[in-house]
Amino acid sequence: MEEKNNILNYETAELLDDQNAIRIIDQTLLPGEIRLILLTTAKEIWDAIYLLQVRGAPAIGVTAGFGIYLLTKAVRIVDDTPENHDRNFAILEAEFERQKAYLNSSRPTAVNLSWALNRMEQVFLSMKEDRTLTMAEVKERLHRECVAIRDEDVEVSRRIGEYGLTLVKPGDGLLTHCNAGQLATIKYGTATAPMYLGQERGYGFHIFCDETRPLLQGARLTAFELASAGMDVTLECDNMSASLMKSGRVQAVFVGCDRVAANGDAANKIGTSLLALAAQRYHVPFYVCAPTSTIDMSLATGEEIPIEQRKPEEVTDMWYEKRMAPENIKVYNPAFDVTDNDLIAGIVTEYGIARAPYTESLRKIFEEKQKHPIQNSPQNV
Ligand code: MRU
Repeated sequence: MEEKNNILNYETAELLDDQNAIRIIDQTLLPGEIRLILLTTAKEIWDAIYLLQVRGAPAIGVTAGFGIYLLTKAVRIVDDTPENHDRNFAILEAEFERQKAYLNSSRPTAVNLSWALNRMEQVFLSMKEDRTLTMAEVKERLHRECVAIRDEDVEVSRRIGEYGLTLVKPGDGLLTHCNAGQLATIKYGTATAPMYLGQERGYGFHIFCDETRPLLQGARLTAFELASAGMDVTLECDNMSASLMKSGRVQAVFVGCDRVAANGDAANKIGTSLLALAAQRYHVPFYVCAPTSTIDMSLATGEEIPIEQRKPEEVTDMWYEKRMAPENIKVYNPAFDVTDNDLIAGIVTEYGIARAPYTESLRKIFEEKQKHPIQNSPQNV
């Protein structure tokens, strides 16, 4: 494949500040076409997230961060002097909160969406009482924060890759589900980060990708990006993974996640829990790769994770030349399921690998994070 056409050379989501736009790869067109699109309005950003043109928990968070910055920046302020701080800040705040609520409504399960918006809000509100600031300075501070969210995502994924790599050995067969790859993040992915780092270091992994019904993220995105990186990739339908594991060709399963509860229950793409059950039966360790931005310590168990329900047509019609189900048939189409924590061998974070009991180990991961924040954030420089 020519370098300029290699999907790995494109940014999943990029801030074009001078054009007041976010540039994304339209992932609904992959692998057939690499098309970059610009998002400039709130509706365009909302739609891109809802329609899965940009998807995957961390990439959704990065896009939302860019989005809330651009939408706040767009507010025109007259007489932008420190003397008018309170009046002008109130104008900005009303718009910030309105757009935050709107963007936050685009998808319910991936907590990175609200995590990024809350982080931006925290920074924004921290400037409310600082009457030395103009609104241009407030906007610039938001700019730095959304870029920090993006930059940290690269470092977080790389660290997850390093920890994940300690769990496997050269020549292993690794199975993954959905797309928790570079296309779901900025670089490396989460579940794929050990695969990318292993590839750089000559580990010679054999990668198996579940195609991932109904939206085929495994076939269209994961198989595409990993093959583009030159890895040995085999695609299989979701219902083939149990027989694959029984055959002994898989030494570990790595999946991403959209939200992890405090007890380690992990929501990820529908079909993940079935994979975990089969992995347990065939004694294959099942690992969830989770940036701390995806861990929601406010939820005690996975029961509380909101699960997105999507349109029936994704199951009955999509990808087929003609409808493949009876008219008016009832359809069950949740986009995610929750894997019970006792099926998970480890949760790989940027601060190490949490093991059961997760309520305890995840708490320690967050203590570690508190002590050693990643340095890209302007809050920490
Ligand atoms: O519906 P999607 O494509 O956004 O679902 C994505 C997943 O389930 C990923 O596995 C998850 O977001 C982790 S991405 C690193």
